Amino acid sequence: MGLIEIKDLKVHYPIRGGFLNKVVDYVYAVDGVDFEIEAGKTYGLVGESGSGKSTIGKTIVGLEKATAGEILFENTNVISKRARKSIGYNKDVQMIFQDSMSSLNPKKRVLDIIAEPIRNFENLSVQEEKKRVQNLLDIVGMPTDALYKYPHEFSGGQRQRLGVARAVATNPKLIIADEPVSALDLSVQAQVLNFMKRIQEEYNLSYLFISHDLGVVKHMCDNIAIMNHGRFVEIGTREDIYNNPQHIYTKRLLSAIPKIDVENREKHKQERRKVEQDFQDLYSQYYDENGRVYDLKTISPTHQAAVKTTEGGGQ
Ligand SMILES: Nc1ncnc2c1ncn2[C@@H]1O[C@H](COP(=O)(O)OP(=O)(O)O)[C@@H](O)[C@H]1O
Ligand SMILES: [Mg+2]
Repeated sequence: MGLIEIKDLKVHYPIRGGFLNKVVDYVYAVDGVDFEIEAGKTYGLVGESGSGKSTIGKTIVGLEKATAGEILFENTNVISKRARKSIGYNKDVQMIFQDSMSSLNPKKRVLDIIAEPIRNFENLSVQEEKKRVQNLLDIVGMPTDALYKYPHEFSGGQRQRLGVARAVATNPKLIIADEPVSALDLSVQAQVLNFMKRIQEEYNLSYLFISHDLGVVKHMCDNIAIMNHGRFVEIGTREDIYNNPQHIYTKRLLSAIPKIDVENREKHKQERRKVEQDFQDLYSQYYDENGRVYDLKTISPTHQAAVKTTEGGGQ
């Protein structure tokens, strides 16, 4: 059974207009998604900018309100603030953002930044608190003298480490990582991903790992959902998605993974062009007349894709 189960989640933002400022339409940012994350596992959420990934993340932590659906955390529906409070959900579920510069208060010292979530849930003495924060810095590979410094005194990679230290400070069960390495250089990305993995094993953490890049999530995720226009176009295990993609949008994201292989550069370029052409040509087979993604169909027990026909499976 999953640690957290998301059931038919919808988040629609009203668009207001006219001089009466009435609701004239909605942005269907998230329009009916289902998935579950198991304890100790990483679930990847991948799609282009604007597909609704951050909205899912923010709704799970309670920063946005669901329009419809359920979020079951250890079997308790945590859609309401009261329910979240009653089970200590805000301690169990934390979030890391892409832009650590704006998510870490620039006017506060590292000690206070990392201690803040602890202070919300525990009453520690100054000494105990300092010890806890030192220990957290140690875990993310930061020197002790970081305690009294400010966020701007660190590099992007170091700030992401501080963001992780802050997120694990309350000893959570689930961390929502929204594009945690997208702003970092490739070499630094690998370092941050590696220590996120190490921390996961140490604490039996679950991650919801959000990215626009299928290349980044490849070595992190056990299961992956591919998101487009507020809906899932495909979900499966890592192997299902990388070795047996079904939806044209998944194939397009796969072909967009940057390749460092210089020798085959021309070949990759051609492949990309072909997938791009297929995406144009086959669009109407994968999206209905309103451009909406079809409902998911079963491909295998672990694999579903939003295809029109039931070829190769069906339900
Ligand atoms: N507070 C908001 N009000 C209105 N529309 C929003 C709001 N937040 C996000 N959106 C819209 O919802 C869609 C999904 O956004 P988002 O979840 O940020 O996507 P992603 O993280 O995949 O880039 C976009 O069209 C975005 O413009
Ligand atoms: Mg986003």
